[in-house]
Amino acid sequence: MLVNLNHILPLARKRHYAVGHFNTSNLEITQAILSAAEEMRAPVIIGISEKAINYAGLPIIANLIRTSADKANVPVVLHLDHGATFELIQECVKAGFTSVMIDGSHLPYKENLMLTKKVVAYAHKRNVSVEAEIGRLAGIEDNIKVKKSDAMYTNPAEAERFARESECDALAIAIGTSHGAYKFKGKPRLRIDILKQIAYRVKIPLVLHGASGVKAKWVNYVNKFGGNIEHARGVPDKLIHEAIKNGISKINVDTDIRIAFTAGIREFLLKYHSEFDPRKIIGYSRELIKQVVKDKILLFGSSGQA
Ligand code: G3H
Ligand code: 13P
Ligand code: ZN
Repeated sequence: MLVNLNHILPLARKRHYAVGHFNTSNLEITQAILSAAEEMRAPVIIGISEKAINYAGLPIIANLIRTSADKANVPVVLHLDHGATFELIQECVKAGFTSVMIDGSHLPYKENLMLTKKVVAYAHKRNVSVEAEIGRLAGIEDNIKVKKSDAMYTNPAEAERFARESECDALAIAIGTSHGAYKFKGKPRLRIDILKQIAYRVKIPLVLHGASGVKAKWVNYVNKFGGNIEHARGVPDKLIHEAIKNGISKINVDTDIRIAFTAGIREFLLKYHSEFDPRKIIGYSRELIKQVVKDKILLFGSSGQA
């Protein structure tokens, strides 16, 4: 069934688990996410970025997820990931999204607040939940480039004020993660000390972006079948546990899905030379993505919470 964030995240925060947000841009990834969530009896958030919308077409991707979610026997949120403008938010709400993220994290505090408030007023009237962001992740967020040296951790006092003034439903914070497969040069480290201060002050659900694990097992899988992913490094499971224990209740994953997808395609094509049925090729990857999503649901503690 389709729901918004408010149906699932406050309970996650209260019970100290996190709900997985998984990005999709096509049929097979969507099927893999939903099938994993149903098998694990876990609520799930399906994230669509602006690039995914441009790739698939807005009504097509929205209707694919709405139709699939209607049939699913677990709560499913259809969520815009990193919405950059009010106009995009309006289009997504009209297309049937149950939740949106407005990402004004690159803007000065006041402008971020004004934009978020405008989105909240529009979305709440239509029973659509809103995630906002304060603080900057290192690396690249959709079209928004942030230099590593520019990375700005979230200020706890500012986060408290922003959550109160914007009336958003969930708040994404920056505590040391970044998007993509190259998150850390040295030892992976998250500012759990900052997270603790934020969680003490902000009582709405907190969101961790850039949370893929980029495990050696999966990177080696891709490389074994002709890929060339080097020096990739993600967030270790231990730090994910720490983050959840200290107040994170929504965790965003995209890169791990992309890596599993690539691993499957590479393996299948190298092993089955005479096969040319797209359903078999992509279907093989679908199983690997499902495994990744199930592992995440176990790691996040949301299994059985549907
Ligand atoms: O946060 C970024 C997501 O991984 C979406 O990436 O803009 O390439 O679809 P994308
Ligand atoms: P990863 O690149 O770590 O998977 O993060 C995805 C994300 O934050 C989507 O919003
Ligand atoms: Zn993100």
